[in-house]
Amino acid sequence: MTSLSPLRVVQITDVHLFADGSQRLLGLPTMESFQAVLSQVNLLKCKPDLILLTGDLSQDGTPESYQKLQRWLTPLNIPTYWLPGNHDFLPAMEQVLDDGMISQEKSFEVGGWHFLLLNSQVLGCVHGYLTRETLNWLDQQLKMSRDRPTLVGLHHPPFMVGSDWLDGSTLQNPEDLFAVLDRHSQVKVVLFGHIHQEYSQQRRQVQYLGTPSTCIQFEPGSEDFALGDERPGFRLLHLYPDGSWWTVVKRTSYSHQLDLAAKGY
Ligand SMILES: [Fe+2]
Repeated sequence: MTSLSPLRVVQITDVHLFADGSQRLLGLPTMESFQAVLSQVNLLKCKPDLILLTGDLSQDGTPESYQKLQRWLTPLNIPTYWLPGNHDFLPAMEQVLDDGMISQEKSFEVGGWHFLLLNSQVLGCVHGYLTRETLNWLDQQLKMSRDRPTLVGLHHPPFMVGSDWLDGSTLQNPEDLFAVLDRHSQVKVVLFGHIHQEYSQQRRQVQYLGTPSTCIQFEPGSEDFALGDERPGFRLLHLYPDGSWWTVVKRTSYSHQLDLAAKGY
C-alpha cells in the first residue's frame, strides 16, 4: 500500500515580505497574511512532504526579509525549495535560503518524482524570460531522467491570463519552453506564481497551474490593475509514483483592509 500513498507538496508563492515585518503592501501586512497561510498549512490532515516557494518571496529584496521567511518556515520542519521572482534579489536569496530544511537545489527527486525549478527573472524587469542556458539545462535534466514523472516550476506564467495589465509581464518566450517540454513526455505539471490568482490551463499532456499569493489577490480578467477580494492561500498537490496527481487551492479566512492609495505594487 505504501507505493499508493502520494507525495504531498505545498506550493507557496508571492509572499512579498519586507525587512520590516510590520510593513504593508497596498495596506496589507504581508508578514501577517503569510503567517495565516502557514497556520492553514499546519492544519492539513497530513503533514506535507515538501514545500515549493515559487518567487516574489520578498518585496524589498533584503537579506532581512529572507531571514524572516526562513525563521517562519523553520518550525514546520518540512524540506523546502525555492526559485526567484521579479521582485527577488537572487544574491541575498542564495546567501540566506540555503540552511537547515531550506535548500537551493534546483533539480531533485522525491517520492518518485523529479522536480526542476527555473529562474525566469530578468534583472530590473517585471516580465519573465528563460535564457538559452536555462532551457539547455532543462533539456539536459529531462534527458537524464526520462523515467520519472516531472514537475517544473517557474515564477512567470507561459500563458496570457486575460488581464491586459498582467499579460504584458508574463513569460516572454513561452514557445521556447514548450519546444523543450514537447520533447519530454514525462513532464506532467508546470507550476507558477506571479498572477496572484488561481489559474489552470492544459497544453498537450501538461497541466499549467497558477496559484494565489499569500498576500494581495489580483482580480481575474481585469483590464486594468485591480485587487480581488479572494483570501490569501496556497496550493496542495498529491503526486503519485505512477505519474498521476491531484491538486486543490486552499484559502485562509484572513482578511485585511486594503489601501489602493498606498505606494503601488
Ligand atoms: Fe507577486
